[in-house]
Amino acid sequence: VIEGFLSGQEASVFAICDGRDFITLAPAQDHKRVGDGDTGKNTGGMGAYAPAPVVTADVLSTIRTRIIRPVLDGMFEEGMPFIGCLFCGLMIDGDSVNVVEFNARFGDPETQAVLSVLDADVAALFASAARGELDATTVRSVHAGYACNVVLASKGYPDAYEKGLPITGIDAAEADPTVTVYHAGTAEKNGELVTNGGRVLGVTAIGDSLAEAVKRSYAACNTISFATKMHRTDIAAKAL
Ligand code: GLY
Repeated sequence: VIEGFLSGQEASVFAICDGRDFITLAPAQDHKRVGDGDTGKNTGGMGAYAPAPVVTADVLSTIRTRIIRPVLDGMFEEGMPFIGCLFCGLMIDGDSVNVVEFNARFGDPETQAVLSVLDADVAALFASAARGELDATTVRSVHAGYACNVVLASKGYPDAYEKGLPITGIDAAEADPTVTVYHAGTAEKNGELVTNGGRVLGVTAIGDSLAEAVKRSYAACNTISFATKMHRTDIAAKAL
């Protein structure tokens, strides 16, 4: 078996598909390694941002015409039209684009960033795709500003970690109206919010610039506490 090593930067592009037609959402970049500078073990994703400038207009055009369009046409011709979210996991190196993986779902944590910058009637968009009649007029903009999502994880993740530790500060973080804290590995114990997973919370902020979104997201992270809290400090740094 001979394999090619793919160098470059990974990016994720989600296409909402109705079997024939599709719309691409803002390109995002996940951070798979647990440590800053893409070091340490692979995780489910330690943070993401959108739009990711590594996916230039030309690269997105290539992704649409050379990857998504042939997949949809091929599946339609084989009698299995694809209706749903096509997740294209890509390696981008300049103008060169390679597919690393496809998933028939949204990605985590990219979705928290991608949907935060999607100005659309999302329910109408998804319903129209499900009916096989994708309605692009439901979308005003797929990149209304910038979004950054920083994952607050439990120390030890992706290996063993402690659970059941009290979490505080979410209300204070969300006092900033640009911030939304998504729950991933949390639970309620005796009326108290506690950690219940490796990736605990996804702290997402939006802004008019990526730098602003990143700053707000990290400020919100700093207001949230739990004993084993850890996070990467360089989400989106490659794009800044
Ligand atoms: N963020 C990668 C995935 O959802 O598979």
